[in-house]
Amino acid sequence: MIQQIKQQLKERVIAHFQLENLNVVVEEPKRGTADLAIPLFALVKQLSKPMPVVLEEVKKAIESYDMVSEIQFLNGFLNISINRAVFAKTVVDQVLEEQALFGNQQTEQTVCIDYSAPNIAKSFSIGHLRSTMIGNALKNIYQKLGYRVVGINHLGDWGTQFGKMIVAYKKWGNRADIEQNPIVELQKLYVKFHDEVVNDPTLEDQARAVFKALEDGDAEMLELWRYFRDESLKEFMSMYDLLGVSFDSYDGESFYNDKMAAVADELEQKGLLVEDDGAMIVRIDPLPPALIKRRDGATLYITRDLAALLYRYKTYRFDKVLYVVGNEQKLHFDQLKSVSKLMGYDLDIHHVNFGLVMQDGKKMSTRGGRVVKLYDVIKEAISSASQAIFDKNPNLQNQAAVAKAVGIGAVIFNDLKNDRNLDIEFNLENMLAFEGQTGPYLQYSSVRIASILKNQTLTNDYPVDSYTSDLPFELIKQLSGFEDALLKAAELNGPHVISRYLLQLAQTFNQFYGQYKIITEDEALKQANLHLIQAVRIVLNEGMRLLGMIALDEM
Ligand code: ARG
Repeated sequence: MIQQIKQQLKERVIAHFQLENLNVVVEEPKRGTADLAIPLFALVKQLSKPMPVVLEEVKKAIESYDMVSEIQFLNGFLNISINRAVFAKTVVDQVLEEQALFGNQQTEQTVCIDYSAPNIAKSFSIGHLRSTMIGNALKNIYQKLGYRVVGINHLGDWGTQFGKMIVAYKKWGNRADIEQNPIVELQKLYVKFHDEVVNDPTLEDQARAVFKALEDGDAEMLELWRYFRDESLKEFMSMYDLLGVSFDSYDGESFYNDKMAAVADELEQKGLLVEDDGAMIVRIDPLPPALIKRRDGATLYITRDLAALLYRYKTYRFDKVLYVVGNEQKLHFDQLKSVSKLMGYDLDIHHVNFGLVMQDGKKMSTRGGRVVKLYDVIKEAISSASQAIFDKNPNLQNQAAVAKAVGIGAVIFNDLKNDRNLDIEFNLENMLAFEGQTGPYLQYSSVRIASILKNQTLTNDYPVDSYTSDLPFELIKQLSGFEDALLKAAELNGPHVISRYLLQLAQTFNQFYGQYKIITEDEALKQANLHLIQAVRIVLNEGMRLLGMIALDEM
């Protein structure tokens, strides 16, 4: 809303001077009591008119605008106070009608978001969980801003490790065990392979030969590979189900098997592919070269990513592509960008990187030597939430569903509350607290509003005079900032912008709740309060939805 007002002010000044190219700046001053300010020096310069004249003219241009209540000149600035009543009414009405604040923007743009991307036959790591949650939030945010979003799960389902898996399976594997516990059993086979290769180095050659056969389309090898893939995918799907996450495409690395030759050809044609000790590489100084084909002809991770990038560009015609992958793959994505540039593509590629997950000061991935099964960790969050909720409200209906929403919401919010570049601390007790910077705090704030509204009827009309006092007006200003938060979150590919915004909104609401009697005898005032808190709840809930959390009516 503030943006719209700024825009209006600019347009009015420009129209007044009838100078289309006039550069009018409207700021939000950090200090003082004014809501907006127009610095006049720059206009004096551009217009070559004396300050008092410019001052009078600008004043004339904007004083009839109903959003403006007071204009004061100070130290070269025209300080503007917004007409609180008009502003408040507009904002609250808009939110209640779920209008502009909720981005009826339509861009014609497409964004591809590559996220989650776990590796078949390996466990879903905590890094994949971060990627899943950040990617899912970005998907929701871009969608809300009117983008066409293609969410892609670039599964790690191809590569030399599958040669090893198949060799190990044929020697030591057992189908029944795998069906019981696919990822654990497949991972065991992988470990066994590496243990045995010490005694029998020919295993490596066998594995290479098997992967070669797989790449060449050998039916038996493909059958086995597909079986591992299906079994692993089942387990990943139960994780996505739990988190409420879905994808538009599950085209993983294997999907590009038949599309890599064309990429190699194109590199060749463009004179970029050079031989190096039997392997094929692309030089991208000063970065280390990109290895496109090994000496034995096998392709690599980057070869598949290059094929994927070009395929996505041709298929979806994206305007930008995001890769939500940890910091440790920075070099890989720098190489990808460099190679595509050398090939003559001008693509807007973003590596949406993120930090580690720490537990008790250590990188979280193993616990007492065991690999942490994330599914169990999330289940643990849900059961802790369930306990906390039962202690607070033993008579609650739908306890299981609420515990699930709170437990998962806590994990999600803990992940998304800070700049994604930072490492995060995984501490169930802290993230499940009902106070502080947590998911449950947001959910609880929304529930608090729901319970106040429960037996009340909102009339169509409500007075806005009470909104002009400082605290309610602060709340309204924050409501009006939702759209800016959305735009900023997309600009930075940072869901934390929404998280911080929601925490602030919840805090201001709780302050309001502490200082004002919402259900008052004064019917008109009560209606004003109810409409205001209803608007707060709509924005809180919508913000939580964007982050991937579930808002509740009771908890
Ligand atoms: N499967 C990879 C890993 O676990 C992540 C893939 C990310 N996406 C991509 N297009 N490279 O490390």
